[in-house]
Amino acid sequence: MNEKLWGGRFSQATDALVEKFNASIEVDKRLYASDIQGSIAHLKMMANESIISKDEAQILIKGLGRVKSKMDNNEIPFTDSLEDIHMHVEDALGEESGDVAKKLHTGRSRNDQVALDVRIYLKEETKHIIQMLTDFQRALVVMAKKHLKIIMPGYTHMQRAQPVLFAHHLMAYYEMIGRDVQRFGDSLKRVDVMPLGAAALAGTTYPLNREYTRQVLGFGKVSENSIDSVSDRDFVMEFIGHASICMIHLSRLSEELILWSSSEFAFITISDAFTTGSSIMPQKKNPDVAELVRGKTGRVVGNLVAILTTMKSLPMAYNKDMQEDKEPLFDTVDTLKICTAVYTRMLPNIEVHADRMKAACKQGFLNATDFADYLVNKGMAFRQAHSVAGKAVAFGLGQNKELNELSLAELQSFSELIEQDIYHFISLDQMISRRISYGGTSFDNVALAVQRAEKELDLS
Ligand code: ARG
Repeated sequence: MNEKLWGGRFSQATDALVEKFNASIEVDKRLYASDIQGSIAHLKMMANESIISKDEAQILIKGLGRVKSKMDNNEIPFTDSLEDIHMHVEDALGEESGDVAKKLHTGRSRNDQVALDVRIYLKEETKHIIQMLTDFQRALVVMAKKHLKIIMPGYTHMQRAQPVLFAHHLMAYYEMIGRDVQRFGDSLKRVDVMPLGAAALAGTTYPLNREYTRQVLGFGKVSENSIDSVSDRDFVMEFIGHASICMIHLSRLSEELILWSSSEFAFITISDAFTTGSSIMPQKKNPDVAELVRGKTGRVVGNLVAILTTMKSLPMAYNKDMQEDKEPLFDTVDTLKICTAVYTRMLPNIEVHADRMKAACKQGFLNATDFADYLVNKGMAFRQAHSVAGKAVAFGLGQNKELNELSLAELQSFSELIEQDIYHFISLDQMISRRISYGGTSFDNVALAVQRAEKELDLS
């Protein structure tokens, strides 16, 4: 019978199917470096508090170093009979250092150990993701700066509404991703809490110095309540929640890139390196990258539902259900990282068709609001001006002409306030230039917003 680390009270071997069912090693093996780091800190603390001798700690820390390099090189086979990464590391340490390895788990449970490992892992990954999102923001700002003067139709209800600067549109994504960065930065504070020492759930009888362990591991604070320390997965739910919002942002961009690259819009061309062909239709060039990012948003939102549902109604303290936290977490980290990376590379390779965007601005009465504003400037109340402009639009529709294509006499039939200067007033450049309200799309505003962002991102 394969002797389990917890096998003392058992007289029967684990059922073969249960062994497979119970094991999490295929998933949690990626925590090996965090697990070893946590164990080294635990050993240092125990030696410092004379719970084990300094010599024993030395031997074990060296042994863990060897386990680490063997695991780095895939030299330690993983097996379901050793359940999870914690057992594998402890078992491998036994091989390296002999019987003294049996002291490693003093004053510790896998319950606080796994909470620690995931926190070590997620702290690193969150910082990495913040970096990657910041790089993506840089790509957005570089693109905005390159196309500062390009005018495109702005949409509401997916109908042409008013002209905006293409750069302004891109900078909207800069803002969204900026909030994602803030959210991840904020939740990092709650990941940065050191749970080791809670043991199974009640704390331990050994004189552990948790503050010492915290310092060795570089955590911001020590967790307060041992029951909460082993039961808390808020930080996992929060991370996946933030990641879901971030992916939703990327999916909105995806949708626009897909639309814009269609023949119907033809606002952009995505470079060949970021598109693929069809196996049957020789002419096809498909925006697969954008479609995949949009599609993978579903995975991440699914991961959020999975972790929320797993945690729902769980009684205190640790329950094995919580072993199910890692798959959605790891998948979310991987998915968000690859999507962010691929978009950061794709953006500079997008060709922008200013002429098509401009042409699209010239059809659909995008100057109707400005037509009303013109009348307001000449003294008419806005509601009345709105109604006059509406009538002019209806007339134009009948004539198959835009407002600026109507003759002065035709325009004057709607209001005596209208003079020759209306044509200049409702021209594209003028409509953009006048939108000077803070945060609006005027050339000056957008140039300033880009400048501010360059400063924030150390680009200038
Ligand atoms: N593999 C477990 C997990 O990921 C580690 C903790 C198990 N604790 C226990 N008492 N069985 O959650």
